[in-house]
This record gives sequence, C-alpha cells and structure tokens, in this order.
Amino acid sequence: MTDLMKTIQGRRSVRTFDGIPVSEEDRDRLERYMRQITNPFGIPVRFVLLDAKEYGLSSPVLSGEKLYVAGKVEKVPYADVAFGYSFEKLVLYAWSLGIGTTWIGGTMKREVFEKAAGLEDGEMMPCISPLGYPANRLSIKEALMRRGVGADNRMPAEKIFFDGAWDAGLPAEKQAPIADLIEMVRLAPSAVNKQPWRIVVSGNDYHFYEKHDKGYVNEKVGDMQKIDIGIALCHFMSGLEAQGKKPEIVTADPGIAIPEGVEYIVTVKDC
Ligand SMILES: Cc1cc2nc3c(=O)[nH]c(=O)nc-3n(C[C@H](O)[C@H](O)[C@H](O)COP(=O)(O)O)c2cc1C
Repeated sequence: MTDLMKTIQGRRSVRTFDGIPVSEEDRDRLERYMRQITNPFGIPVRFVLLDAKEYGLSSPVLSGEKLYVAGKVEKVPYADVAFGYSFEKLVLYAWSLGIGTTWIGGTMKREVFEKAAGLEDGEMMPCISPLGYPANRLSIKEALMRRGVGADNRMPAEKIFFDGAWDAGLPAEKQAPIADLIEMVRLAPSAVNKQPWRIVVSGNDYHFYEKHDKGYVNEKVGDMQKIDIGIALCHFMSGLEAQGKKPEIVTADPGIAIPEGVEYIVTVKDC
C-alpha cells in the first residue's frame, strides 16, 4: 500500500485534542509545507497559522486545540475548487505527521477568524482547521457529531463512478484497474459527509461533476460543495501522481446528458 493510501485510509476528522501544543519542529514542517502547496488551477491559497489563545479562537465542536490554520483565496472563478485541493494537501500532510485536523466551514465565529487571519477585500476564507495531536478518546460531543452526520459511512463506488454516461454504474472489470483511485475518492471528507462528487469515466478522461444539495452556496464563502470537489480532485490526482503519472486538468464539458442539480466542473486527463 502506498503511503498516500495509508494516510487517506487512516485520516478522520479530529475534534478532541490532547491539549499538548504542536511542537516547534512540527510547526516548522507545517509552515515549510504550506508555503509550497500548489493546485492545478494555479490559484494561490494562502495559509495562516493562528494561536487560539492569542486571538481568542474556539469552535463549539472542538476541545483541547491550541492552534488553527486558516486558508485564504482570492474570489476568482474556481477559487472554491482550488481551495479544496490545496487545503486538503495540508490536511493529508498534517495527518502523515500525526497531527489531526477538521475542516470547519460552519461551526465557528467566522468574523473572529477572518479578522485574526487578516482577510482582505476581494479574498475569502472558506474554512479553517484546528491543528493538534488527537486525544486517546473522542469527547461525547465528538462521538455524537460523528454519528449525526454518519461520518464513518461512504457511498459505494457504483454510485459515484459512472461508465460513459450519467448513472451508468462502472462495471467491476472497469473498476479493477483504478480500484485505488476509486477508494481514495470515496474516502475523501466532505461538508456534512454529503460526498457530492460524481465521476463519468470515458477512456482516460475522468469528468468530475458536482451533485448539488440545497443550502451550501453562500455569497461570502462560495460553494462549500465545490470545496468538496476540490478535495476529491486532490485525492484522485495525488493518487495518479503516486503511480508516477502526470495527470492534467482541463475544462471542456463533454456534453454528457446530466440531470437537474448536477454541474460539470472539470476533466482529469490521465496521460
Ligand atoms: C468543506 C467542509 C466543511 C466542513 N465543515 C465542518 C464544520 O463546520 N464543523 C464540523 O464539525 N465538521 C465540518 N466538516 C467535517 C465533516 O463533517 C467530515 O469531514 C465528514 O463528516 C466526514 O468525516 P471524516 O472527516 O471523519 O471522514 C467539514 C468538512 C468539509 C469538507
């Protein structure tokens, strides 16, 4: 199993921390990594580490956290997808160091975090995350929250990977060669665990779509479910790269018939 697969399979949201500050060494590693994260959209995402105490930061779903990271991006087309991609890179890297995170787009006092992060005109700060070492046991509120959103469940491959046409489940023989990539996408985190990604496979082209649920678009923070698509893209493309491939992203709607409430986002070319 690749290190990437191990990280993706092991990761979960961490909302209960052991209260020990992130070590200087780990903080340095995170800072160095944050500075060199890129995404296939070429849209810079800027990360800021924020001490909880210094800025009076907290979230009702978290306990024991001492450090946060906020991400900022200019409001341009594809900003939310690019944000999802880059922020997830950091989430996976943090987990590989033994540092827990939780994507937080709702359960926080947004104005307080935006001020602490120095948000400027024309920018948005869609999500933040705590950074810290996971406690041995989940708090009761964390356990309830996980149960509430069914955080341990994921949709089966047939419901998200289609064979050339919408809703045409990818048969087992076509799943087999890309089994690892499918697993990496399935396990991606998403807002309220809605898993809005759908992928139509057509030869070496993977057309990514967003299946919208109501209530996730907001003028201030964009479309949370587009962030989810960026996360799925991050897992998928990082998976291809781990196989030595050089995937490319294009935006060229293949014109496949799709139902209402579904939106074409991008195509990944495995070349
Ligand atoms: C864009 C985004 C926003 C999220 N916002 C919140 C949030 O505001 N509060 C929270 O507790 N969890 C939030 N989550 C975490 C999800 O609930 C979690 O990823 C999902 O339930 C799957 O659980 P897992 O991460 O443990 O696999 C968010 C996740 C994503 C991707």
